[in-house]
Amino acid sequence: MNKKDQLLETTQYIKSKGFESPEIGIVLGTGLGKLINEIDIIKEIPYSDIPHFPQATVEFHSGKLIYGTIENKKVIVMSGRFHLYEGYNPWQVTYGIRTMHSLGIKKLLISNAAGAINLNYKKGDLMLLEDHINLQGSSPLAFANVGEFGDQFADMLEPYSKNLNTQMKAIASTYDLVLHEGTYVGVLGPQLETRAEYRMLGLMGADAVGMSTVPEVIVAKHLKLETVAVSVLTDECDPDNLQPVNIAEIIAIAGEAEPKMILLFKELIKTI
Ligand code: HPA
Repeated sequence: MNKKDQLLETTQYIKSKGFESPEIGIVLGTGLGKLINEIDIIKEIPYSDIPHFPQATVEFHSGKLIYGTIENKKVIVMSGRFHLYEGYNPWQVTYGIRTMHSLGIKKLLISNAAGAINLNYKKGDLMLLEDHINLQGSSPLAFANVGEFGDQFADMLEPYSKNLNTQMKAIASTYDLVLHEGTYVGVLGPQLETRAEYRMLGLMGADAVGMSTVPEVIVAKHLKLETVAVSVLTDECDPDNLQPVNIAEIIAIAGEAEPKMILLFKELIKTI
């Protein structure tokens, strides 16, 4: 079956379950999981029930699509995202974005965890993405007939909405939260970077590094969605003083930053 027809079947199935005219799509990455507690849930569907949705890996059995309201806005939330490093292809990694677009969202909100390349940024700080560098070695637009979905040579002039970023910065300032704004570099992973790689990423102009978000945002831009993305910085990537990776600490730091991230997203949803 061709990609257009797959997407149509997926969308029809989800609509038949009562997902009516959502306005905003949200990808719950690290640092935003507890946003679920803020949703008045109307309906949820496990990814495994949705036709053509990527099949979950073992660690990812709980992925689901949630429909409900936050601040009186109708939202769809992807609880659980797909990464290239898990072996999914770029089409699969971005299938949820295409699905939410087909269901009618106009705006997309994304969160992730990232390492701080800019050494003025500290563990636990948040960073608004202003731009990105794709070092994942692939594009989610590199397939036959991509022109049926949008421009093949899509421009990447403003992948992150200036308008939404301005609003996000105003919210951060109202609540006295540190919110940097910088360039995110997406790498494939799953291994972390060598000292030489961190040094290179800094020289390239990256402020933060992570293993997600970039393919999702390329597709969102292709589909003309207004997008905002925030990273929680979980580790400091100093090539001259690199520490062994401590996953427990990364998770703890992401957890501590979560209330700040949730506040920003809720207030943004209220105003858009
Ligand atoms: N590198 C890549 N991805 C990451 C990092 C990192 O240092 N920290 C959190 N996600």
